[in-house]
Amino acid sequence: MDSDYAGIVDAIREIQQITKEQLQYILETEGKENEEYLFRAARDVADRVFGKAVYLRGLVEFTNYCKNDCYYCGIRCSNQNAERYRLSEEEILSCCDMGADLGFRTFVLQGGEDPYFTDERICRIVEKIKAGHPDCAVTLSIGEKSYESYRRYYEAGADRYLLRHETADNEHYCMLHPATLSGENRKRCLYDLKKIGFQVGCGIMVGSPYQTIDHIHEDFVFMQDLRPHMIGIGPFIAHKDTPFKDKANGSVDRTLRILALLRLIFPQVLLPATTALGTADPMGREKGILAGANVLMPNLSPSAVRGKYLLYDGKICTGEEAAECNVCLKRRVERIGYYVPESRGDHPDFAKSDAKTDAKTDEKMDVKTDVKTDA
Ligand code: 5AD
Ligand code: FES
Repeated sequence: MDSDYAGIVDAIREIQQITKEQLQYILETEGKENEEYLFRAARDVADRVFGKAVYLRGLVEFTNYCKNDCYYCGIRCSNQNAERYRLSEEEILSCCDMGADLGFRTFVLQGGEDPYFTDERICRIVEKIKAGHPDCAVTLSIGEKSYESYRRYYEAGADRYLLRHETADNEHYCMLHPATLSGENRKRCLYDLKKIGFQVGCGIMVGSPYQTIDHIHEDFVFMQDLRPHMIGIGPFIAHKDTPFKDKANGSVDRTLRILALLRLIFPQVLLPATTALGTADPMGREKGILAGANVLMPNLSPSAVRGKYLLYDGKICTGEEAAECNVCLKRRVERIGYYVPESRGDHPDFAKSDAKTDAKTDEKMDVKTDVKTDA
């Protein structure tokens, strides 16, 4: 093993910061042993905060109508080939009821920026979910809104909000989005959400077109300022009906290394091993957990619409039922020595007790790191 590599990993862990040079070195230095040292350090940090807990979030993809036209995204408004759908309020609520029966304690309502879902409609849905499931957290992931709208969602009972910043660099942001969107507004939204009191998630696509190490370093600097509670990252995967259809996909290996660095720098953050990571590599989600991730977000949407919420090509689990993914994921988590608690899985700053007790329950569990590359 390369002692420089280990020394840099230890230093990052110690001071919870990373320089551009360190980032480049960590991402670009080859060697399985180096990588394994990095992942082991990240696992160790996750273990100290969360034990072997991996939280499941039930994802309800309730509309694929979107007024935006992001160059990377399969549900961009210009994609005439996307088959559009919207779930009714009743359908959304019944997804959550089924999810609660399966043991989920967080529902993530994710959708395109669909003007049909006015603030009134969103608030009604949030209120009804919270009324039916007072022990569950509701996460919204519905894009850029005004401070006032975010405040109304919070008042209605929403607990968390996911809005990936996509890239902290405003010029890079312009290369990924049409001129109607700006990096400044994106970041404004995230600071507003934090100020209102949400648990906030930001994030990036690893290997998005034109992304450089400098950009990724800016992302770290931005996140150290924002101090998000959740960070969602996955590899960029080209979608055939977008302007980026011929762009190279992001690398799984780089995604895993960035996950590990995020864990070292933000020990308490909720960090999903994303569906995009599971799409790019059949064992991607397990590898993500073994590199420091501690959240999985299986789909709860009705099977009739699953194949329509396609942000990128090849998305996994579009043919499965919610119950199947639930069983599958629990089994996958357990196979690598982790377990799925039935608690909300709040960020430790928000948790009354569960994160700490979850961390204690399983001190003696064995982590199995010898993940095979085939599913
Ligand atoms: N590849 C990977 N991730 C994507 N997303 C959107 N399009 C793609 C793609 N082609 C991500 C974005 C968005 C999140 C909901 O999904 O980061 O914020
Ligand atoms: Fe959907 Fe495994 S998570 S089938």
